[in-house]
Parts: sequence; C-alpha cells; structure tokens
Amino acid sequence: MTSAIPGFFQGTDMPTTGWWEVLWPDPASVLSATGVKRGMDVIDLCSGDGWFTLQIAKVARHVIAIDIDADLLEVARRRLTENGMTNCDFVAGDAYELARLASRPVDFVFMANAFHGVPNRPRLAHAVHTTLGQAGRFAIVNWHQTPREKTIVMGEPRGPKTELRLSPEQTIVAVESSGLKLAELVEVPPYHYGAVFEKSTA
Ligand SMILES: C[S@@+](CC[C@H](N)C(=O)[O-])C[C@H]1O[C@@H](n2cnc3c(N)ncnc32)[C@H](O)[C@@H]1O
Repeated sequence: MTSAIPGFFQGTDMPTTGWWEVLWPDPASVLSATGVKRGMDVIDLCSGDGWFTLQIAKVARHVIAIDIDADLLEVARRRLTENGMTNCDFVAGDAYELARLASRPVDFVFMANAFHGVPNRPRLAHAVHTTLGQAGRFAIVNWHQTPREKTIVMGEPRGPKTELRLSPEQTIVAVESSGLKLAELVEVPPYHYGAVFEKSTA
C-alpha cells in the first residue's frame, strides 16, 4: 500500500486498473496546453509511473522525475528507456524537499494529480518558487471540484474524494502565497483544469 509511505500525500495513489490511459489518451496535449516547450529543463513533480514524464522528455531538453515511491519511479524509468529516452533523471524523495532534490534551477515544474493531497500547499509552492529559474513556470493539473460520482471513466466514478478536490481559486490562493503569480488558467477536459504560475522577473 503506497499510502503507507511516510509523507505520502492523501488521495494520490497511482491508479492501477487501466483507466488512467483512457482518461489521458493524449498526455502531450496536456503539456502543450499548460506551456511545456521545446528545449526547457523540466521537473515532473509526483511523476508516478511516468505517463506524463515520457511526453515531457520528448519535448524538453531534460526532465527530472521526482516521486516519493521508488517502485513507481522504476516503472517510469522502464517506460522511458523502452522509448529510447536518455534525457531523464529519476529522483526518489518528498516533494516538499524539491529545492534539495533538484540539482539546479529549472524552467518549468509540472505537477499533475497530486496538489489536492498536499497538506501544506504554501510550503510546497515555496519549494517550487525556490527551484524555478527567472521567469520559470509552475503548472498544476487538478481535478475540478466536481462531485466524484460525476467524474465517470470506464463506467465508474474515479479520482480523489469530492472533499479533497480544489477549486481553481483555492489553488491560486495557496500558490500565490509563495510569490508566484497566476499566468494562465486552462481547461483540460473532461474533468481537469490547469493553473499555470510564473516567477516574477523583477
Ligand atoms: C495520482 S499519482 C499521479 C502521477 C502522475 N503525476 C500522473 O498524473 O500520471 C500521484 C503521485 O504522487 C506521488 N506522491 C505522493 N506523495 C508524495 C510526496 N510527498 N512527494 C512526492 N511524490 C508524492 C505518488 O507516489 C503518486 O505517484
């Protein structure tokens, strides 16, 4: 049970039943919607089994996949190796320790399907702020605050409990406390939104 790992964020277990690929048939489109661009240095924070990491690696100069679950990182490593990717590092650790885990500033931090479970969101946002280079961006992809019984994939309600889901406004307030500023809010159909924040260039 991965959620037995100390520090594991609530309601962020990686789904194992195959519905993830059905919900996210085109992960590359999520990256372009949130602004991952060719040549960037990117961190995939809470990267899970690498479903998004692989697509990031295809466009980025370099990607660091960070997850607290070392077994999932191995699955991600295998996925990227099988696809011939060599521009990725895999780092096991707690997302709060991001500033220590990343060896240098990056252009972009991508975090999908995990921010809802973070107990101290301003702390996490502060760690991201520290890790971003000038004008760096932080994209959070979250489930909308739709009741769980209405987010159906393959005939069943999916995703975190309704009470864990965050509105865009709740996400923005938590992240902006770190000094990052909202740059864009995008829809990621059918059930998600992307909130993209930027580090001030001043
Ligand atoms: C629902 S999965 C999403 C994985 C991936 N981002 C995606 O969307 O396909 C959430 C991930 O967050 C990871 N996680 C949970 N708590 C964490 C923590 N404190 N630090 C880093 N990763 C964590 C879990 O191990 C899991 O792989």
